[in-house]
Amino acid sequence: MFASSTRIIPDARPKPRHVAIIMDGNGRWANKRLLPRVAGHRKGVEAVRAAVRASVEQGVEFLTLFAFSSENWRRPADEVSILMDLFARALDVEVAKLHSNGIRLKVVGDTARFDRRIRDLIAAGEALTAGNHRLTLTIAANYGGRWDVAQAARSYFAAHPESLARDSTLVPEALEPYLAMAHAPEPDLFIRTGGEKRISNFLLWQLAYTELYFTDLLWPDFDAAALGAAIESYGTRERRYGRTSEQVQARNEAQVQDA
Ligand code: IPE
Ligand code: IPE
Ligand code: MG
Repeated sequence: MFASSTRIIPDARPKPRHVAIIMDGNGRWANKRLLPRVAGHRKGVEAVRAAVRASVEQGVEFLTLFAFSSENWRRPADEVSILMDLFARALDVEVAKLHSNGIRLKVVGDTARFDRRIRDLIAAGEALTAGNHRLTLTIAANYGGRWDVAQAARSYFAAHPESLARDSTLVPEALEPYLAMAHAPEPDLFIRTGGEKRISNFLLWQLAYTELYFTDLLWPDFDAAALGAAIESYGTRERRYGRTSEQVQARNEAQVQDA
């Protein structure tokens, strides 16, 4: 289990250990070129490959990518079906490459809604790569932050029926082992491409103390240099977790002396 930032103050790190990205702007990338939206999604898959490679190079240990939200079913049926095909094809083609690069694959979200082929590819990909340690790549698919909190609560109460008693208390952190992201520490750095400044039901719980970074770059244009710029911005942030700046600096100095 990873420590909860609202229970234990994490140590300062110069570089992010976990980066979570909302990959937005595929449609606009295609529109700008008078291409169908699917062309943007295809280019977006290439940008995913580049982001995985660049994350490994930057020493990122966990990369979490929002691929399809629980609200994306609202899109036109043909776009949804194209996204499903692309997801299936990417799983089919990329998993072996991920594995040979020492990358562990995880998929989070309500996968029950996907068809059998995708569910089988997910299960096979996760099983094949389960022992890898170089980078954990988590794909959020049919994921919603509210869904996650609700399913975690359901699992928690199933495991702890006594906690339904009227006088029992529930500390927030008790839900964390049941959240879909329990296999990863909380994200240090959140990136959203495409210019919108919103969370769109991504990791609502886990982003409590994450540093947020927004860029106007459209996802297909997001490359290693763009990731580098986001990580550089992260390096300038002071993560206070509710404390004063003086307290943060005193602890950092103590950490340096210990080292
Ligand atoms: C992100 O790009 C990909 C998904 C949501 C699946 P969009 O398709 O949202 O692109 P824009 O925001 O319309 O440009
Ligand atoms: C968020 O992008 C979801 C993904 C990138 C998968 P959207 O394009 O769906 O977000 P909104 O609708 O602009 O908030
Ligand atoms: Mg969008």
